[in-house]
Amino acid sequence: MIVFDQVQKSYQVGGEAVPALHPTSMTIETGEVFGIVGHSGAGKSTLVRLINRLEPSTGGRILIDDEDITHYSHAELRAFRRKVGMIFQHFNLLSSKTVADNIAFPMKLAGIYSATQIRERVDELLARVSLVDQANKYPSQLSGGQKQRVGIARALACRPTILLCDEATSALDPQTTQSVLKLLGDINRELGLTIVLITHEMDVVRRVCDRVAVMDAGRVVEMGPVSDVFLHPQHPTTRDFVFESESVDRDELQEDYQKAEGRILRLTFKGESTYQPLLGSVARESGVDFSILSGRIDHIKDTPYGQLTLSLVGGDLGLAMQAFEKADVHVEVVR
Ligand SMILES: Nc1ncnc2c1ncn2[C@@H]1O[C@H](COP(=O)(O)OP(=O)(O)OP(=O)(O)O)[C@@H](O)[C@H]1O
Ligand SMILES: [Mg+2]
Repeated sequence: MIVFDQVQKSYQVGGEAVPALHPTSMTIETGEVFGIVGHSGAGKSTLVRLINRLEPSTGGRILIDDEDITHYSHAELRAFRRKVGMIFQHFNLLSSKTVADNIAFPMKLAGIYSATQIRERVDELLARVSLVDQANKYPSQLSGGQKQRVGIARALACRPTILLCDEATSALDPQTTQSVLKLLGDINRELGLTIVLITHEMDVVRRVCDRVAVMDAGRVVEMGPVSDVFLHPQHPTTRDFVFESESVDRDELQEDYQKAEGRILRLTFKGESTYQPLLGSVARESGVDFSILSGRIDHIKDTPYGQLTLSLVGGDLGLAMQAFEKADVHVEVVR
């Protein structure tokens, strides 16, 4: 468990303390994939670098598994950092070392593993990230996705309990992103590793995260289970991210709404209700006619969801809304 208790961070710039993280309290549970989303400069990297003490905080306490890490000595810090792996946007591999040597590097640096232990662990990790036949290549001979797999294997070398990912898929194409996210999901499930994942893409959050915090100008402005935050965003910044991920042009959407007649409702289906043939039967029973203004059916992690915006005319609207709610469909009146 990672607990932030009124943690804050300021940087000294020209003799002045400039806040990058305002006092923040939150808890990241053991074994969850926790997303942090926000625009450039929001303070995401700062927050994550406080977790492995790459940056010292300037106030508050950070507890990891009930231990306050803010006052660790150098020796304590060295042991602690083995428990926290990290991967980066630009991979940060050593170009003069082979794939296998890159993965072995943190174990050698730790100085507590035998040569046999290192060799066995490297073989195991090469298999886990599907790079067995690339072991003797150098980073420059690999694709971006392969480089990030090396980054992941290296981060796992000392058997950490926490993995920090700072924009780990931002330099990758959509298909490679998908496969790296799948690998992170597998690692989270199979090793029970806690993953803290920074991204500026809500779509990445939707695919792998259990909970998410949205950051804006050094503050967490919204936090919760991904299905709540993604399907019912409250803060303007969160709404921006969700609309962006759905490629929705809000002005166009408003125009569409103006052209539509009657009441406008947004229906959110989640889990089983996504597949029920509900619209037809509600329309028949309530006599309401509907047209679809926008819609999307997809998954949040493994849970299917659908979100439809409808305009409804005629019939008994109250009866229709009751029927939707009875079927566990969330109804929001847009107009
Ligand atoms: N070493 C530093 N010295 C001074 N200011 C810094 C330092 N590192 C970060 N900052 C400032 O702190 C704020 C937060 O930066 P941070 O790197 O955490 O943002 P971010 O959300 O990770 O952005 P990005 O998406 O661009 O990576 C920014 O205003 C940045 O300029
Ligand atoms: Mg950053």
